[in-house]
Amino acid sequence: MVENFIISGTSKEEKYTSLLPQLKALIQGEADLIANLGNVCSAIKYGMCFYWVGFYLVKQNELVLGPFQGSLACTRIAYGNGVCGSAWQKKETIIVDDVDTFPGHIACSTASKSEIVLPLFNKAGEVIAVLDIDDDQYARFDLTDKKYLTELIALLEPLFT
Ligand code: SME
Repeated sequence: MVENFIISGTSKEEKYTSLLPQLKALIQGEADLIANLGNVCSAIKYGMCFYWVGFYLVKQNELVLGPFQGSLACTRIAYGNGVCGSAWQKKETIIVDDVDTFPGHIACSTASKSEIVLPLFNKAGEVIAVLDIDDDQYARFDLTDKKYLTELIALLEPLFT
């Protein structure tokens, strides 16, 4: 029986600090990529109370929707398009306080107001996926999210083969 993770603390920092070791243990006990991506989405969405959490995987030179938690999402994103495609192109994390101000933002849901997208890399330094997190509040994401989510995706990157 798998129980929900215990999230302690009230600040974002405290929540990530309690969530990450639990996720690390989960990932270390399971070698399957998709199983881990699915559980990571659930743990972040429900642990941190974000609106939408999901992975887009690079497949044949486009991003294709992978495991996610939240409402229906667009399935394919081209290189350089939207926040996800831009994070892929720039090979860097992008934080958007107000999605309406981001040129080319792809609105999968009108409820999404702010967003963070982090690229995942293979050993050759190529982007293999992105982690996309949306929230229904403006400016929900900052460098604290970037710090802890970067630690988290480092655990997942070796699972891509
Ligand atoms: N807003 C993203 C598209 C994915 S959905 O938010 C789930 C973007 O602009 O790339």
